[in-house]
This record gives sequence, structure tokens and C-alpha cells, in this order.
Amino acid sequence: TSNAMWGGRFATGPDAIMEAINASIGFDKRLARQDIEGSRAHAAMLAATGIITDKDAEAIREGLLTVLSEIEGGNFAFSTALEDIHMNVEARLKEIIGEPAGRLHTARSRNDQVAVDFRLWVRDQCDAADAALLAIIQALLAQAEAAADWVMPGFTHLQVAQPVTLGHHLMAYVEMFARDRSRFADARKRMNESPLGAAALAGTSFPIDRHMTAAALGFDRPTANSLDSTSDRDFALEYLAAASICAMHLSRLSEELVIWSTAQFRFVRMSDRWSTGSSIMPQKRNPDAAELIRAKIGRIMGANVALMTVMKGLPLTYSKDMQEDKEQVFDAADNLMLALAAMTGMISDMTANRDVMEKAAATGFSTATDLADWLVRELNLPFRDAHHVTGTLVALAEGKACDLPDLTLADMQGVHAGIRADIFDVLGVQNSVASRTSYGGTAPTNVRAQIQRWKDAL
Ligand code: ARG
Repeated sequence: TSNAMWGGRFATGPDAIMEAINASIGFDKRLARQDIEGSRAHAAMLAATGIITDKDAEAIREGLLTVLSEIEGGNFAFSTALEDIHMNVEARLKEIIGEPAGRLHTARSRNDQVAVDFRLWVRDQCDAADAALLAIIQALLAQAEAAADWVMPGFTHLQVAQPVTLGHHLMAYVEMFARDRSRFADARKRMNESPLGAAALAGTSFPIDRHMTAAALGFDRPTANSLDSTSDRDFALEYLAAASICAMHLSRLSEELVIWSTAQFRFVRMSDRWSTGSSIMPQKRNPDAAELIRAKIGRIMGANVALMTVMKGLPLTYSKDMQEDKEQVFDAADNLMLALAAMTGMISDMTANRDVMEKAAATGFSTATDLADWLVRELNLPFRDAHHVTGTLVALAEGKACDLPDLTLADMQGVHAGIRADIFDVLGVQNSVASRTSYGGTAPTNVRAQIQRWKDAL
């Protein structure tokens, strides 16, 4: 039998495989709430502009609420023959209210319908990501506050570089996640225009009020070009781009937690709630959640690339290719939200080993730069010369298998006669971090000020 929606010009229905490749109901049922919200706004507008009667609009709007409660209650029989959420909802509405259901699609197409549904969905995801990022930032702030002056090694090339504080290190991620929030907010602002009323592609001859539906759905304004309205998926791409960058940040933090929780580092201990054991090695505490978060960037960035690839080269306006937008975004959003929640839990629960970190901070000649800076400040050496003198001292210490503070004054003076005993003051890791008072530096006073700045801002 031919299709109930457009059977007029068809003699037979689709091949079974055609139905399988064409149907999107298996995944776009997730747009049910947005679809019904959009349809209710459309129906109200059709009545307000006199295109349909108030009575029909009322029947449609009420009937749609019944459909929504059936779907949300799990009492809805989705049909693949009806292709997608839009036609499933409309078909059921017809069963419930009869003839007026057929008036809902006046001055509308599935092309603007799906565009508005999906925008509403992605807009919600921007808000959800924002809330989850706020939670992770708060978890980081709490840990950073406790560890504002806990010294640890700072790394470049994953080689010990200079002492920093754990608080400073965690606050670096606060900066990243705050930028992620602003990226989602920025994308949300740009996507917040309503494509509803663009109809199939050219607009409509009915006297619709697009401003009314835009306002009813919480959009700032209607989109300005009907062709762009039905063919634009920038909003989904911008969401995926922001999600990819956020997932990249989560991946870097995960990698650090994986490294830090090894027996070699022991900087942190992940709680039991965020660790897993081994089926054979009884001693194991594996950071599986961190590893999985580290990997999530693969599918999230993959979604971004996949949708970009779907969209490239598509002529205006709608092509069925665009139906491939949803699963990518759904999967990316689900996994981003899961990763954010897991990271928040891990960070909140983790315990840092202050002593281990501080000891590690003193290894690797981490205060060599402080020594060179002393030579510049106290003996007025050009930095390049100070660098050379310090390098010689490091080699000397390395030869004696000791650290810089373990060299004697005589050792030091053998390399540069002007060195005085007070040089030893700058070789301690506490002094080192305390001295980094330049704006944005790791001095605990700075770190506390930054924590306060963020707390005030949030
Ligand atoms: N299920 C379709 C999608 O997700 C809805 C739009 C269909 N439009 C069309 N002209 N066939 O893209």
C-alpha cells in the first residue's frame, strides 16, 4: 500500500530495504518533545493569524499533548513505515482528533520542522553542557583551594621543569572549562533563531507570523532567509566543535590523572568509587573512568568530522543526506555529558599526596632557573651567562649524584667566584613557588586570588 502522507501519486509502497535506509524514527524519536513543542507553537500561530480556526488549533494542541504523554509514558507504537518522528506524531494525532490533524501541516514542511526540532534539541544540549561544566569547575575550585600552596613539579616535555602548586595546575583546567562554557554560550546565541515558517524552502503564501512562533519557542528572532533556514546545520557543527574542544580538555586531564595515579608517580589516589580492579592481579586499582574519558574525544571529534563531511558539497537546500546529522550529535552529546559527570566525580573524590608531590618537585634540578635568576639579580650577570654557570653547576651535581642544594658553597664558588651563601635560599621549592608572583604565576598568593576571582564570577 502506498504512503498515507503522499500516496496520491504512488501506486505501490517502498521496497523493504528502501524503508530501512530511509527511516529515521529509530533515532529521531528523541526529538519527540521538541517536535510537539514546535507543532503546538505552529498551531497556535495558524489560529492567531486566522489560517485555521481556534477550535481546530485547540484540538490539535490538546491532541499533541496526549501524543506526548503516550510517547513519554512508553505507550506509543513507533512505525518505520511512517519514516520519522514528524509523521509518526502527525499520524497518531489524526487517530486521536481526526480531521483537524490534517490542518497542522499548513504553511509548513518537514524541512523547517526538522530544522526547528533539532535546533531546540541542540540548544538544550548547550545548556546541559554549561551546567555540567559549571559543576566540574566547582569541583576543581574546591580541590585547588585546598592545594593552593601544595608544591608539585611542573612539567614541560613531561620532564620536570619548575616547581608549581597543585592549586595552580588545577586552576589551569578551570580556565579551559570556562572557555568551553563560553564557546557553548556563543554557539547557543548564534543558533537561537527560528527556522520555522521557512516551509519547504521558499517560504509560504499563507500570512504566517514567524515572529510569534519564534517567541513562543524561546528564539530571539526568526531566521532571515528561507533557503538558509532549511539547509543550515551550522548550529549542530558549532555544538560539535565546542564539544570536541571540551572533550580534548577532558582527555588531557584524564591523561594526567592516569599518569599521576601510577605507582611511579603516586601524586593522587583515585577513590574506590572511580577505580576498577583486575580479574587476575589482586593489587590493581585501574583508573578506567579516566581512560574512557580520555578516549571519548575519538567519537566526539569523529562526529564533528562526520557531519562536516556530510554537509560539504551539499547543494541548497534540503537533501536527505542531512538526516545523517542526528545520530552523530546524539552520540556526541550523550558521551560528552557522561564524560563531564564522570570527571566531576573523579575530581571531587580524588586525594592528592602532598608529601609525594613536594618531594618530586625537588627532583630533576627543578630550581635551576631560580639559581640562574639569582645570578642575574645579585651578580648582575647577563641571563645567558647565568644559564651557562647554572648548567655547569647542574652537571657538577649530577656527577656527584646529588641535588643542587646539596652542593657546598666551595663547589659553587669553584664554578663562579662571586656566589654567596644566600644563593641557597632560592634553591628550595617553597621559595621557588612563592617567588613566582608575576600576574598569572604560580605563587600561592596569586593562586588564591585567582580562586577568589572565579568564585566571585560564578
Ligand atoms: N527525517 C527527516 C530528517 O531527519 C525529516 C525531513 C524530511 N524532509 C524531506 N524533504 N524528506 O532530515
